[in-house]
Amino acid sequence: MTKRITVKTLRSMKQNSEKIVLLTAYDASFARVIDEQGVDVILVGDSLGMVMQGHDSTVPVRVDDIIYHSKSVVPQCKRAMVMADLPFMSYTNPNQAIKNAARLMQEGLAHIVKLEGGEAQLETVRHMTRHGVPVCAHLGLTPQTVHKLGGYRVQGREEDSAKQMRTDALALQDAGADAVVLECVPVDLAEKITHELEIPTIGIGAGRVCDGQVLVLQDMIGISSLAPKFTANFLVDGRNIPEAIKAYTQAVRDESFPADEQCFF
Ligand code: KIV
Repeated sequence: MTKRITVKTLRSMKQNSEKIVLLTAYDASFARVIDEQGVDVILVGDSLGMVMQGHDSTVPVRVDDIIYHSKSVVPQCKRAMVMADLPFMSYTNPNQAIKNAARLMQEGLAHIVKLEGGEAQLETVRHMTRHGVPVCAHLGLTPQTVHKLGGYRVQGREEDSAKQMRTDALALQDAGADAVVLECVPVDLAEKITHELEIPTIGIGAGRVCDGQVLVLQDMIGISSLAPKFTANFLVDGRNIPEAIKAYTQAVRDESFPADEQCFF
């Protein structure tokens, strides 16, 4: 029987300098193929609001939407761990967060939940992890706050914001977080955070030093209406979809992805 990836596996992969591969999926067919191609973690991201529902941000996504997609994905995965996003406004306090995390795990069958934010989420992360909920944090560009951030921009370029991100990452680890996504972060900052943490960092537009990488599936197969700078289309050179997923997985593992053109300096 295939052994499922767990948060312990992720931590030992970091210790052994083995890159962690994540990709989003929202349905059974893609989930099965992605699992078969050896992706370690499948993210049922709230990016589904954009790539499945056609919104221009992740803000309209509801807990029920994530559950609907997550419960289609999880039964297809023999090896991959499935991470589900807590959507916008579903974790404004520890009690609300743990209730919604329980729904993602009990109804959506997810193995770990992800939420966005640093300092403001410490109590929530502590509450959830103390009650046995595995948590991945998300720092840098946090798409749920796009209207507050004023657009999808690189984060942590100034000395103060970089310092704050490093402090937040360490505090989230102390609060019990099992991993942290770093989105649109300059390479040198992502590198510092990766070296300072014992838990894995998962980069998206954060350079190849991160312990793992994540992409949105539709970006990775070149069918998104907007392709952010940090993505690459692997459905090229006559590959079919399983081959494209395999190529992405190999490129993360051999560190040929991300290349410099997908990074912020
Ligand atoms: O929702 C999502 O797909 C994400 C990734 C961009 C990390 O959060």
